[in-house]
Amino acid sequence: MPSQPAKPAILISRLLPKPAVDLARSRAEIDAYAVDGAMPRAELLARLAGKRGLICVISEVIDQALLDACPDLRVVSNVAVGFNNVDVAACTRRGVVVTNTPDVLTDTTADFAWALLMATARRVVEADRYLREGRFNQWEYMTLLGGDVHGKTLGVVGFGRIGRAVARRAQGFGMRVLYQDAVAADAATERELHATRADLATLLRESDFVTLHTPLIPETRHLINAQSLRTMKKTAFLINAARGPVVDEAALVQALQEGSIAGAGLDVFEEEPKVHPGLIGLPTVVLAPHIASASSETRLKMANLAVENCLAVLEGKTPPTPVNPEVLARR
Ligand code: 8YV
Repeated sequence: MPSQPAKPAILISRLLPKPAVDLARSRAEIDAYAVDGAMPRAELLARLAGKRGLICVISEVIDQALLDACPDLRVVSNVAVGFNNVDVAACTRRGVVVTNTPDVLTDTTADFAWALLMATARRVVEADRYLREGRFNQWEYMTLLGGDVHGKTLGVVGFGRIGRAVARRAQGFGMRVLYQDAVAADAATERELHATRADLATLLRESDFVTLHTPLIPETRHLINAQSLRTMKKTAFLINAARGPVVDEAALVQALQEGSIAGAGLDVFEEEPKVHPGLIGLPTVVLAPHIASASSETRLKMANLAVENCLAVLEGKTPPTPVNPEVLARR
C-alpha cells in the first residue's frame, strides 16, 4: 500500500472555536495553545520550531527574528483582517505566504462601530450606570440629554469594505455621508451610499460623527492628532474600531478634557491592552476591549477561514484570502 504523505504540522497560537480546530486536525498535525491569551514569545518560538504553518491573532508579532528562528514556516495565517502585526515584506522575501480574514467580519465590525456611535451619542453606558447607582428616583426632563444621530453628517475615514458597510447603515438614519480615502469609490457606490468624497480637513470640519476604518500603515499613524481634533466640531464624536495608533491617544484625552469634541467611542487603543488612564475617568467616552468582530458567528467564520487559508497553502492550493499572492506565483 502506498504510504500516506505526512500531514503538515501547524501551530495554533490561541484558543479558537472547536469546529475550526477540528477542521484543522482533520488535515494536519495540530499543536494548539489551550489558553485564550497571548502565548509568551519564548514559548511561541519554541513550539513553532519545525512547524510549517502558524495560525495566529494580532497579539503575535511576526517579524524577521521569528522567521529566522523558524525556517520551516511556509504560511502565517492571521485570524484578523488587519495584519499590522506581521512584517509582510520580510515574509514575502522568505517565501512565507501571509493570509488574513477579510469579508467575513465586515458587517459585524460595522454593526459594532454603530453600537459605539449610538452609545456615545445617546449616553447609553452613562444611563446604565446612573440607574444601577440607584439615581433613577424620579423622571427628569433635563437628565442625560444626548445628541441626535438621524439627519446628521457621518464622516467615514477609510472607505474600504468596513467603512462602506458603516456608511450603508447610515442610510437608515437619513444621514449625509462624507468619506476620505486615497482612492475614490466608483460613481454607483457613491450614489448608492449617498456618499461624497472629501479631503480629511473638510470631513473633520463638517462631520458630526467621525468614524475610522483605515488600516494601520505609516501614513495613518496618528492621522487623528491634536490638530485634527481641533478641526472637529465641539459637538462631534470620534469612533475608532480600526487600530488604536491611528489616533494620538494623549491628544484625544486632552481634546475630550477641554471639551473641544463631545465624546468618543473606542474599541482599540494605542498600546493594547493598556488604556490611557485619562480615558478611564471621562464619562463622555465609551470603551470596549477590541470586540468589534466578536460575535459568535463571525469569530467562527474568521477561524474557519484562517484554517482553510493555512491548509490550502500547505496542500499546494491557492488560499482564499492571501495578503502577498506574489509568493504563491513563485511556487
Ligand atoms: C480581531 C481585528 O478581533 O480583524 C481585525 O483586524 O482587529 C479583530 O477583528 C483581532 O484582530 C483578532 O486577531
